[in-house]
Amino acid sequence: MRAHSDDEEDSDSAGQKSVEVTGEKSQQVIQAGEEVSLKSNYYKKNMKMGVLFALFVLLLSIYLHKNPHGFCLDSEFSKNISGIGLALKAEVYGQHIAQKVVTSALKNHFAKYNARKPLVLSFHGWTGVGKNFVTSIITEHFFKHKTHSSFVHKFIVPVHFPHDSEIDNKGGLFIFDEMDKIHLGMMSTIKDIILGFRGKEVAAGYQNMVFIFLSNSGGHAVNQHVLKHALDGKLRQSLMLKEMELIFQGMIKQTPDAWFADLLKSDVIDHLVPFLPLERTHVKQCIRRDLIMKGFHVREALVSEIADQMEYFPDGHGFFSVSGCKKVSSRVDVIVG
Ligand SMILES: *[C@@H]1O[C@H](CO)[C@@H](O)[C@H](O)[C@H]1NC(C)=O
Repeated sequence: MRAHSDDEEDSDSAGQKSVEVTGEKSQQVIQAGEEVSLKSNYYKKNMKMGVLFALFVLLLSIYLHKNPHGFCLDSEFSKNISGIGLALKAEVYGQHIAQKVVTSALKNHFAKYNARKPLVLSFHGWTGVGKNFVTSIITEHFFKHKTHSSFVHKFIVPVHFPHDSEIDNKGGLFIFDEMDKIHLGMMSTIKDIILGFRGKEVAAGYQNMVFIFLSNSGGHAVNQHVLKHALDGKLRQSLMLKEMELIFQGMIKQTPDAWFADLLKSDVIDHLVPFLPLERTHVKQCIRRDLIMKGFHVREALVSEIADQMEYFPDGHGFFSVSGCKKVSSRVDVIVG
């Protein structure tokens, strides 16, 4: 379409030229001659560049065939797995299940010498409860250049969907945000790609790939369950992964075309990681951390004042924060700044 209209413009302007020319024909010819030689120079240069480029691509593909992780994954990988465990424990508030699952999943995966598959984690939970935070802790401990590493690939699903080639032949961390908005056809593409990495020789290095899916799918059901648990007077810490998994099994039965249904059934997702709704005490922890980070003195009266400005649900109980810790930083700025 575009090329077509460009063509039309060209022929238009050519028509204009031939009308204008009359008196300046000779100059026009000289200009045209110059243009021709410029053009042929241009093509020669392009040819050279093309040959060089083809050579480069050929060498690169031979190299990548021998070493699928490119030039420096090994030196870029810091794989500080024990550090991830420590950081999750110290810095992530109110997510005892996620903290345990993520820590042990990474430990087990990278302790295996014969893991012949990527690790696939799926984080589920309400907004602001720490899914992105946990992802960034993993990223920071995985790579020397932390979040700036060229081995971190983040895709915001509705905006940017990767081509096969962006996933193939690269090691590292692949983060897919807003998976709840994914098209099912795309989902099966990702599924096939991940399944295709399985059972390959260790030297292929696919065990060095980690996929993390982020979504709020199931967040509502998790919230309901945690609310019931709290109303029953039970301790939050006694919530188990098992009962959370049952919630997701129930969801799949009700909505068999949920984006993660197929992935769970075919074991593409190694670990489903539920994130719990945050309580007021966790919001206060986030506020304290934010104040300290910004260099303010932590006064409990101030912490409570900021926590009071957040919204809580359900009406009447107000157990859980509507936006988790997401709005804490901007609230702190408004009140203290
Ligand atoms: C690993 O991570 C921990 C926790 O963040 C950190 O204290 C430690 O310095 C890290 N170790 C290395 C070798 O980077």
